[in-house]
Amino acid sequence: MRIIVVGNGGREHALAWKFTQSPGVDQVYCIPGNGGTATLERCQNIALSPEDFVGIAEFAQAKQVNLVVVGPEVPLALGITDVLTAKGLLVFGPTQAGAQIESSKTWAKELMEAAAVPTAKAQSFTDTALAVAYVKDQGAPIVIKADGLAAGKGVTVAETIEEAIAAITDVFSGKFGLAGAQVLIEDCLVGQEVSVLALTDGITLRPLLPAQDHKRIGEGDTGPNTGGMGVYAPVPLVTEALMDRIQTEILEPVLAELRSRQIDYRGVLYAGLMITPAGDPKVIEFNCRFGDPETQAILPLLETPLEQLAIACATQTLKTVGPIAWKTGVSACVVMAAGGYPGDYEKGYPITGLETLGGSSAAATVFHAGTRFQDGQILTDGGRVLAVNGLGLNFDQAFAQAYAAIAAIHFQDCYWRQDIGYRVRTQTPGSIP
Ligand code: AMP
Ligand code: GLY
Repeated sequence: MRIIVVGNGGREHALAWKFTQSPGVDQVYCIPGNGGTATLERCQNIALSPEDFVGIAEFAQAKQVNLVVVGPEVPLALGITDVLTAKGLLVFGPTQAGAQIESSKTWAKELMEAAAVPTAKAQSFTDTALAVAYVKDQGAPIVIKADGLAAGKGVTVAETIEEAIAAITDVFSGKFGLAGAQVLIEDCLVGQEVSVLALTDGITLRPLLPAQDHKRIGEGDTGPNTGGMGVYAPVPLVTEALMDRIQTEILEPVLAELRSRQIDYRGVLYAGLMITPAGDPKVIEFNCRFGDPETQAILPLLETPLEQLAIACATQTLKTVGPIAWKTGVSACVVMAAGGYPGDYEKGYPITGLETLGGSSAAATVFHAGTRFQDGQILTDGGRVLAVNGLGLNFDQAFAQAYAAIAAIHFQDCYWRQDIGYRVRTQTPGSIP
């Protein structure tokens, strides 16, 4: 079997890595991939843009590729699945219509309301004066969101009315382009955030292990939001009973609502949830793709061959695949970022220490997020540079593996949070600290 993975982040390295571990997969092509996928066996980087749908279709046909797996949201929102499917290719990832669940927060909120899933109360505005009046009426804290895709930078959790007004002005300033044509203003939820990603073929849903991301740059969850600085899976706070509620009260009604709108949603339905102090799950947002870095923590625990699941989603036969099997143990993943991220940062620094970690017996796996392979060297090439994964029978072991590997790796101005997973050490199953 030959598979294309579209994208160039840590998520795509993890997907390609998992596919190449399966004897059923002969070759993976990453479009365009990164320094990690460049050095993976049975994997080749292809210098095409993820937005060059015609180029990708021609390449896929020439190589007789069996499946195209789309990592990032932007090509999905631009309709890669519609274009490739029309050319007879099998694609894992929703159509443009389905991707609206991530590409328009207003659309997603309306869908959630129609499906009666628990989420924060919200209102949309296209006008500054009305938005400001609403904020003054509601009071702070309050959450201001640019409607469209803004690479994780379009959300402000405003602690004061002044901060909220500044965020509204920012959204309407044109800074986010078309993504800022509307602003969604919503109540601030409190509790613990959890990511629940489900595989779906549009009819059947199979949730993956829950994961907890750490979105803020600073220790103790302080400072600006990032794409995600570290993650662990599974999450003890999400008991089997809570997972059942997430499936029946959130994932299934949303999928049914999509179906009722003639949207045939095949791929990952990713629910970003707040578990409230009362223990109730509420939706913060939906994404139309695998999480990054959630994928880097979840996939190392997956026992069922990933290509079987992905093909079953794309061919709408997920029902025929048994329950997803998982390895024993837990997974921890810590992101090493470039100094300055999520603000400005430098690229092109050599990364040392990776060679000491190689080998199939290695305790940690290093997924490349923002790297490139040039003249025999791995260089930094992004804000989030590496995602270092450790496995263990418990979280102390898993994090020890990840942090030990990080200690062996170096690049100029590298930064990582030392406290990833701090909550899991104090959680007992079912408790909401
Ligand atoms: P999003 O891009 O919607 O995932 O938002 C980014 C981050 O902002 C989330 O991961 C949360 O940490 C925070 N956030 C978004 N919406 C809310 C909300 N209604 N209440 C509290 N925090 C929120
Ligand atoms: N880790 C957050 C995301 O993938 O959106």
